[in-house]
Amino acid sequence: MRTPLVAANWKMNGSREFAEQFFAGLDLGGATAEVAICPPFPYLPLVGEKLKGLGVALGAQNLSRETSGAFTGEVSAEMLQDIGARYAIVGHSERRSLYGESSELVAGKFIAAQAAGLVPILCVGETLEEREEERTLAVIGSQIEAVIDAAGPGIWNRAVVAYEPVWAIGTGKTATPEQAQQVHEFIRGQLGEAGAAVQILYGGSVKSGNAETLFAQPDIDGALVGGASLDAEEFAQICRAAG
Ligand code: G3H
Repeated sequence: MRTPLVAANWKMNGSREFAEQFFAGLDLGGATAEVAICPPFPYLPLVGEKLKGLGVALGAQNLSRETSGAFTGEVSAEMLQDIGARYAIVGHSERRSLYGESSELVAGKFIAAQAAGLVPILCVGETLEEREEERTLAVIGSQIEAVIDAAGPGIWNRAVVAYEPVWAIGTGKTATPEQAQQVHEFIRGQLGEAGAAVQILYGGSVKSGNAETLFAQPDIDGALVGGASLDAEEFAQICRAAG
């Protein structure tokens, strides 16, 4: 009932040459999942051109909650929509931890994305300390609640949620399929009536070698892939594992 989605988050990696080589090597044959690529801002138009005809969506890694005006260095949702983006990642843990983004700011970005017709990919996840203190579900519940408080409950039919345990990002440690499933099921329960149709992605050291067992879980609808999305062949294998 839910089409799987695999989204590549290139983070602050790549170049024009990298993008050329990546698409020269990308063969998504056999993949029926929805696919999206989120390159750094400067490469959005180039990647957008490459995606034409591939049936792959374009996404941004961040956006401003403001619509326009004197906000030096910011990029609005309207601008992203204007250049053909479909998705915008909001609340990635690197933005929360390295750039001090609060759940309130993340909610503002979520609202701005939807207002411009983009689909926000809302990232939530706990740190290792929070998991060890058995606060995983409380932390994730409050990250989701902050968005519902700001945007209202009827927002999930145009959104994607990504569960990314902070301790699994870029570390080579992956949540076990059971650990991830437990949190995904909890998240779906938090989303109310629309929850059954929302794509909930897992992120954190996803590779071709672990994707299949993760995707076999009933509430894992694909992945938000960091490091492994920089290798076209590896990324395509993950897409194929999703469906
Ligand atoms: O957005 C992607 C996540 O941060 C996962 O990154 O696959 O390199 O662990 P990773």
